[in-house]
Amino acid sequence: MLIDRFGRRINYLRLSVTNQCNLNCLYCRPLGTKQPPQNSSLSYQEIATIVHAATQLGITHFRLTGGEPLLRADLPELIRGLSSIPGVTDLSLTTNGQLLSDIAQELAVAGLQRVNVSIDSLDPDRYRLLTGGGSLQRVWAGIHASQRAGLAPIKLNVVLVNGYNDTEVTDFAQLAGEQAMNVRFIELMPIGAAAAVADTLFYPADAARRQLAPQLGYPSLAGPGPASVWQLGQGTVGFIAAISEPFCDRCNRLRVTARGTLRPCLNSDIELDLTAALGSPHPVAAVQQVLYEAVALKPKRGGYLTANTPGNIEMSCVGG
Ligand code: 5AD
Repeated sequence: MLIDRFGRRINYLRLSVTNQCNLNCLYCRPLGTKQPPQNSSLSYQEIATIVHAATQLGITHFRLTGGEPLLRADLPELIRGLSSIPGVTDLSLTTNGQLLSDIAQELAVAGLQRVNVSIDSLDPDRYRLLTGGGSLQRVWAGIHASQRAGLAPIKLNVVLVNGYNDTEVTDFAQLAGEQAMNVRFIELMPIGAAAAVADTLFYPADAARRQLAPQLGYPSLAGPGPASVWQLGQGTVGFIAAISEPFCDRCNRLRVTARGTLRPCLNSDIELDLTAALGSPHPVAAVQQVLYEAVALKPKRGGYLTANTPGNIEMSCVGG
């Protein structure tokens, strides 16, 4: 079992399986940003080795992120492989949903358990503007296909963006209550491209919560994750207040970037190479050594909470 210097149990690994993305969200990889080189992602075998190594150290929860993971042609095969590794008890995916509708069923059959779908606006024009050209209709098609495929519970990620979707908080809450959706409002973190614009685009979770004050007039449900969550009808709304109410003391995760490094903390520059371990004669043991090192280096709190924004983080490579 992996326990860090501060007594936090690490049982969750997020893997960015590609740094390519088919959207240009204005806080992540705004229009005009160059795509990173294409062939820089970990291979199927490398990802499987990392997951296998992690399960042996007691990591049970795995999430595939990106970039946009559905851009990987071998994603169904990858999910099939990972879901069959003993010790993988929870396997989930975060996607922008653009390509989800045609593949949701295949992913579910391959062993995917749940999806989180990013949907920052319910208005097609605003969605297109926020995402640099995305189709809201495609996202809905993906959400509905995931429901049919049993990829439940589906969570809808909404990054709060001041001046854009702060006027839609009640609409999202209504959607949650009436259509049994699980909406998670996420505070914008000053990472990568967002660092330059966070001053104007940040909208506090508490302000969103106050907009829903009549419905949320009782204590939040106790939950395992970083969100404070309320039941609304058949659905839920939750707030991930990474900036205004940091949850580092409950952090249970490590992150693998698309280019094969291990990050003990989303908001720190600490990064350990995994590629040498993966290429070594005993890759599983070597990867485990790097996992131990990352846990030993895991900082008490994220960088933007203690000093300035870390410099070399790109959300489209680290995953959210
Ligand atoms: N702050 C908060 N959330 C972010 N995401 C991407 N960049 C940021 C940021 N700077 C979100 C995406 C997606 C999830 C994986 O991370 O919108 O929902």
